[in-house]
Amino acid sequence: MAWSRLVLVLLALTLVCGDEHNHVYEDNDEVVLWMSTVGPYHNRQETYSYFSLPFCAGAKAVISHYHETLSEALQGIELEFSGLDIEFKADISKTEYCEIELSEKNQKAFVYAVKNQYWYQMYIDDLPVWGVVGEAEENNDVVSYYIWAHKKLDIGYNGKQIVDVNLTSENKVKLTQGARIPLSYEVNWKQSKVKFEDRFDKYLDPNFFQHRIHWFSIFNSFMMVIFLVGLVSMILMRTLRKDYARYSRDEEMDDMERDLGDEYGWKQVHGDVFRPAGHPMIFSALVGAGYQVTVVVLSVIIFAILGELYTERGSMLSTAIFVYAATSPINGYAGGGLYARMGGRIWIKQMVLSAFLLPVLVCGTAFFINFIAMYYHASRAIPFGSMVAVTCICIFVILPLTLVGTILGRNLAGTPDAPCRVNAVPRPIPEKKWFMEPLVIITLGGILPFGSIFIEMYFIFTSFWAYKIYYVYGFMLLVFVILMIVTVCVTIVCTYFLLNAEDYRWQWTSFLAAGSTAGYVYVYSFYYFFFKTKMYGLFQTAFYFGYMALFSLALGIMCGTVGYIGTNAFVRKIYSTVKID
Ligand SMILES: *[C@@H]1O[C@H](CO)[C@@H](O)[C@H](O)[C@H]1NC(C)=O
Repeated sequence: MAWSRLVLVLLALTLVCGDEHNHVYEDNDEVVLWMSTVGPYHNRQETYSYFSLPFCAGAKAVISHYHETLSEALQGIELEFSGLDIEFKADISKTEYCEIELSEKNQKAFVYAVKNQYWYQMYIDDLPVWGVVGEAEENNDVVSYYIWAHKKLDIGYNGKQIVDVNLTSENKVKLTQGARIPLSYEVNWKQSKVKFEDRFDKYLDPNFFQHRIHWFSIFNSFMMVIFLVGLVSMILMRTLRKDYARYSRDEEMDDMERDLGDEYGWKQVHGDVFRPAGHPMIFSALVGAGYQVTVVVLSVIIFAILGELYTERGSMLSTAIFVYAATSPINGYAGGGLYARMGGRIWIKQMVLSAFLLPVLVCGTAFFINFIAMYYHASRAIPFGSMVAVTCICIFVILPLTLVGTILGRNLAGTPDAPCRVNAVPRPIPEKKWFMEPLVIITLGGILPFGSIFIEMYFIFTSFWAYKIYYVYGFMLLVFVILMIVTVCVTIVCTYFLLNAEDYRWQWTSFLAAGSTAGYVYVYSFYYFFFKTKMYGLFQTAFYFGYMALFSLALGIMCGTVGYIGTNAFVRKIYSTVKID
């Protein structure tokens, strides 16, 4: 059972667009109405399976196909057949399909759902359809609850394809205990001029994404980039030139004078600056994972731009998992190579750490939230089969690929190649002003990068937690590029100050200074939670903060790595031109 499922899942993964439909129907072909989820309007991510409310299904039992992909299961998208008989281009007048019996328990469940503004989601030919469960009405201080008992489906077709679906809920019936409520449906087919490629356009909300504000924020960040790059290059060129001049003047003085002279600044630490970072194993694992995350994010954004991934249920997640697995060698190469250059010997441990760092964190969080979800019976609870599949991907795909990368990395990029020799005895780090302490630099480092992305963060959060479909991936790419540039500039400046204070612990400092952007994003997510969402309860809170923590962590590792890469290039550059006596 688990194995056949795994094979299916792997198949679905290899064919990212592996849907059973080709979306072409002949007259009177079967059209399947899938019931997906119900959940409160205020949290898009809290969903329960449709039939967890005591709805009833139609009489039709057999359909010609069924499908499920891993990413759908992971995202809690459960599809259950509605039992309604719908045929392509065949109108159906109002037909009763089943009856709900309102026992005390059922009535309470429905009242609860109506009270909490539950919505349900269905799919027809991959097009999502949303409807409200019911309505509350207040009359002379007495609140009565109603359920919509009739679904009117208007389906638009263009040639042999379905291009538009509208749902109208009618026939409000009061929820009284002991009543029997017949549910009915009706289908009207209409010719439509909408092109098949454009059928998702009506779900997109250009007003929300406010292109003007978007452009404005991009423009703002862009100005900041130009300013920063200018500033960095100016400061560095001028100060570095001055530094070099001072150092070469020093060389002309004799020893006596030099002892009295003002020898200070970054050159002093040339014997320590390429000393391996503390905890090289964790450091190289983080950097390796960071390389991988950066590549994954960049590729997924590009795929999303090219492939309009939002139109396909769960295809975003499938793509991400697939790209993540496929880019494991990058992780191994970067992390393994760095670890070898730092003189690390326990490379197998480093490789396993590198390969499993993110998967374990993600699965750990998901497992924890799953635990709560199972308690609340949310459809978010990830099925056991999917967990097995994910574990298998980690062990049988990610690990071997990382191994290949690590071996290549250690052999091709593993020889130390620092431009300066490392002294045997570490130099003591002198006392310095409080704002030169690594901790302060780390905290301040994230502010500017965060400033360049927080508007985009608002859009991304909203599309994840509320009913908005994110589709402006071009903006996302721009913001991503800007973020990378700002991060690199800021960390270079931070590192210059740190080294000038004769503190040579720049590796971790640059990584963390860049990564602290994520700390600000996490703090921002608190603001978002309390002021922009209406979530409540243990499950929603744990769910929100758990996944936000994961998101921030991945962002932090990514920014940290990019900051470290930039700084590393900078440090090598300035020390390679200095003459060491
Ligand atoms: C669905 O509703 C929209 C907006 O009211 C309308 O333009 C469209 O024609 C409707 N589609 C069908 C198939 O009735």
